[in-house]
Amino acid sequence: MPSHFITVANIENLPPGTCKNIETQDWGIALFNLDGQIYALDNTCPHAGGPLGEGTIEGEHITCPWHGWKFHIPTGICQA
Ligand code: FES
Repeated sequence: MPSHFITVANIENLPPGTCKNIETQDWGIALFNLDGQIYALDNTCPHAGGPLGEGTIEGEHITCPWHGWKFHIPTGICQA
């Protein structure tokens, strides 16, 4: 029976307060570690396709590196 889960990263490579781009076969994912809680968002910014996983984390928010839109990491809601 095929698994619905795939390993995309090791927790040792995602310390608290960091983010990482993950490219799977089907899409890009931005992984975040906020105080030990792991979150995943679509890596493609809805504004113009910037890589959210290369953005800057401030508290619970990620700022897109291309034009500065902000997203609440736990919910994915845009705060632009
Ligand atoms: S592509 Fe992300 S803010 Fe423009």
